Amino acid sequence: MARLIAVSIDCRNEEVRRTFEAIASRRLHYLVAKGQGTGAADMLLLELDEFRPQHTFDRVRQLLSAAPDLEIFLTASRMDPQLLLEAFRVGVKEFLPQPLTKQDVEAALARFEERFASKASGLEMHAGRVVAVFGVRGGVGASTVATNLAVSIQQAQRQEPAALVDLDVHGGELGLFLDLPASQGLTHLAQDISRLDETILRSTLARHSSGLQFLSSGCEAYDDAKLAPGSMMRILAILRSIHRHVVIDCGHILEPSVREALDSADQIIVVTTLSLPAIRRAKRLLDLLSAARYPADKIALVVNRYEKDQRDLLEETKTLLNLRIAGLIPNDYESASEAINQGKPLTVMASKTSIGQWYLREVGRFVAEPVEGAASPKGPAKNLSFLGRCFSNLRMDVGRKPSAV
Ligand SMILES: Nc1ncnc2c1ncn2[C@@H]1O[C@H](COP(=O)(O)OP(=O)(O)OP(=O)(O)O)[C@@H](O)[C@H]1O
Ligand SMILES: [Mg+2]
Repeated sequence: MARLIAVSIDCRNEEVRRTFEAIASRRLHYLVAKGQGTGAADMLLLELDEFRPQHTFDRVRQLLSAAPDLEIFLTASRMDPQLLLEAFRVGVKEFLPQPLTKQDVEAALARFEERFASKASGLEMHAGRVVAVFGVRGGVGASTVATNLAVSIQQAQRQEPAALVDLDVHGGELGLFLDLPASQGLTHLAQDISRLDETILRSTLARHSSGLQFLSSGCEAYDDAKLAPGSMMRILAILRSIHRHVVIDCGHILEPSVREALDSADQIIVVTTLSLPAIRRAKRLLDLLSAARYPADKIALVVNRYEKDQRDLLEETKTLLNLRIAGLIPNDYESASEAINQGKPLTVMASKTSIGQWYLREVGRFVAEPVEGAASPKGPAKNLSFLGRCFSNLRMDVGRKPSAV
């Protein structure tokens, strides 16, 4: 399943709540909310008010008119057939008699999952495209690439909303690149992830003059910040439901929230330079991604700070990595650092330089799928998680061929 299923429980009966929570939490991809809010829930277990059943039915109607995709499971200790019929008429999807049994709950969840999977695949067709930018080591230019790609995408497609996310919880300085405030961000949203919905997320975004929406990491340098498991998947699911393009600066550390982002992404841009330590790490990273059985056409290697006299080194690197290079970004330290100092994108501040031109020219290749030059995917790896793929015995035969850029 591509994203987490958010479950909410609204029950006075503690026993019922505990049983349902225990069964749902044991299933992969379920996130059970602690409180009683329905937030952005996909499913709600609601207890019937047996003295005032019409109150419960009114509530069901209200909930479904606000969130038509929500599925409501009703539970009660007694239920006459007439009321049951009415419950289904107002939109209840499942009825669970009390006391709950494992068998009833699991059967209802299995039916729910089938309905959810077909709904989710329909939604995925409309979901925005996620591009994750990962640096093979610190300082190779991941933030510069993520920022300038995101702004270029927004400039090229003004009508289509785009977002930029700072997932580098160790750096967290991306706001500076666009002179945007970096107050509340990912860490704030992840604090109560089960209640996160579109409204809360929108209120956390900062708007750049290009129209690009920015979500900061919410971290200060040297914070020991970690996002709760599942947070990044959920945040990205909402972000991509309201933006046509989402670009993520993943930094250069392969930690769990970054792995969630890489899993959710349609495209991973690996940024390297042609320095020996960077090439060595690029090799290691590409081997890891390959062992994790990411489809080969999901990965695009971009060389940053490229100089023409590095041609021989580039050829050797291609042979070593056995991978076609998707882009060569010219070395121009003056423009790149001046852009950061002024908090402006390169396409605005240095649009006539070769580096500014590179972003203007190449952006089209990164908004369409997949990036030209990547090998075609092999193997059934598309829906596995990073860890699932890493620990699988199967290795991906990517069949990559080195060739000229
Ligand atoms: N094409 C380029 N040519 C020259 N310098 C560049 C280029 N791209 C980025 N730089 C410079 O490299 C430095 C590091 O860039 P950036 O902050 O984007 O890297 P990073 O990988 O995100 O680093 P960190 O690990 O600190 O997050 C900056 O001074 C930036 O101006
Ligand atoms: Mg950075």
